[in-house]
Amino acid sequence: MRAKDIREMAGEETVTMLTAYDAPTAELAEAAGVDVLLVGDSLGNLRLGYDSTIPVTVDEAASHTAAVARTTDDAFVVADMPFLSYGADEGEAVENCGRMVKEAGADAVKLESGPHTVELTRRLTDLGVPVQAHLGLTPQRENETGLFRQGTDQDAAEEIIDLAREHEDAGAFSLVLEHVPSNLGAAVTEALDIPTVGIGAGPDCDGQVLTIDEVIGLTEGTAPFAERFGDVRGEMERALESYVDAVESGEFPREEHGHVEESLEY
Ligand code: KIV
Repeated sequence: MRAKDIREMAGEETVTMLTAYDAPTAELAEAAGVDVLLVGDSLGNLRLGYDSTIPVTVDEAASHTAAVARTTDDAFVVADMPFLSYGADEGEAVENCGRMVKEAGADAVKLESGPHTVELTRRLTDLGVPVQAHLGLTPQRENETGLFRQGTDQDAAEEIIDLAREHEDAGAFSLVLEHVPSNLGAAVTEALDIPTVGIGAGPDCDGQVLTIDEVIGLTEGTAPFAERFGDVRGEMERALESYVDAVESGEFPREEHGHVEESLEY
């Protein structure tokens, strides 16, 4: 799949997008038919033990993106650019985003967007690095905005629509819209030709994205806009407790788990 294929899905086909951070989750998500795999910077809090996405480094994002890209054939792999790896110095941003494509094998990068990413989106697109924009709640700004719903008054909503248009004009192939009112999600989708992918942005976006940990039920709770479609946490707890019990009681390992070497004189 190419960025142009995702772009052409707008209004035609629903875009399914999910985060993936490693080879096994990427393999399973692709087999389930997910179109776009986002190596989200939620990697920080969901896999690396950080309290937020802020500390994730370019090296960490590249390493996890490479694992996802190595394992998949058809899914479109998007590397989420870490906080401050873009937006300050253009040369550095191009180098960091370029690494995700050249070194890690991503098909595109995602930038948490704002007025500061319009020209960068244009530059990267011109250079052949497809960009997915991201507006609404952008968690890398959590120290400024908190992790709250965005676009809740008319001015803020208009600003999101304007920025969405500017990023589309700059060449973004798609837009993630996070935690905004559903009627704003619908208005942005209506205003753009590229597909919107919503996360807490209502049912009228062209596609939906969630973190895989919430979808499979690995996290204890979920965001208010997310849903658990499984209970992997419960299954892991049951398996791990059974393992500990079996080792402690001597039920594991059994004879068939080892082998006896006849030539040894013991
Ligand atoms: O990092 C992330 O998980 C995201 C969301 C859009 C799912 O950016």
